[in-house]
Amino acid sequence: MDSNEMLQKVKGRLPEKRFTHVLGVVKTAIELAKEFDVSESKAETAAILHDAAKFSDREWMKSIIVSEKLDPLLLDYHAELWHAPVGAYMAKTEFGVEDEDVLNAIRYHTTGRAEMSDLEKVVYIADLIEPNRKFSGVEELRQLKEQGLDVMMEASVKHSIEFLVSKNQPVFPDSLKCYNYFVQQKGKVKE
Ligand SMILES: [Fe+2]
Ligand SMILES: [Fe+2]
Repeated sequence: MDSNEMLQKVKGRLPEKRFTHVLGVVKTAIELAKEFDVSESKAETAAILHDAAKFSDREWMKSIIVSEKLDPLLLDYHAELWHAPVGAYMAKTEFGVEDEDVLNAIRYHTTGRAEMSDLEKVVYIADLIEPNRKFSGVEELRQLKEQGLDVMMEASVKHSIEFLVSKNQPVFPDSLKCYNYFVQQKGKVKE
């Protein structure tokens, strides 16, 4: 399936505002991929599909998490997290995506994880800073581009965790592992 077909299919599943967000993520993901030497076509595919399951039926998503033996911990956390791993399942089964790196970029776009690939980082960051995002601090995140992909990723996951904490929301362990990974990596370089 080419990217135009994918976009049309995704468009049919999302409200207009969410589709506008997807187009923003595609644009930003391609820019970041160019900047940081990541495959632009993989970034484009992952960005197009990252929110494909965003408006899927909750019970259906739950059934996929169980039947596909996805991380069972997901069921103890907010259903908002489910669309990422279920989106990866959808990308494979309904859009024919086989590339594991692309699937992981979709799978971890909400939580991050330790030892992310550069493609995963690009999609995670693009989701957060695409042009339609207006939250306070987004401009500062965008400007970190000059300091490299890891600096951007660390600041992005920190922002997401801080946001959840400020709202008294639980933080999924993969996000904490992602944060710890960056902080501990820096410690290692210094030694
Ligand atoms: Fe998402
Ligand atoms: Fe998104």
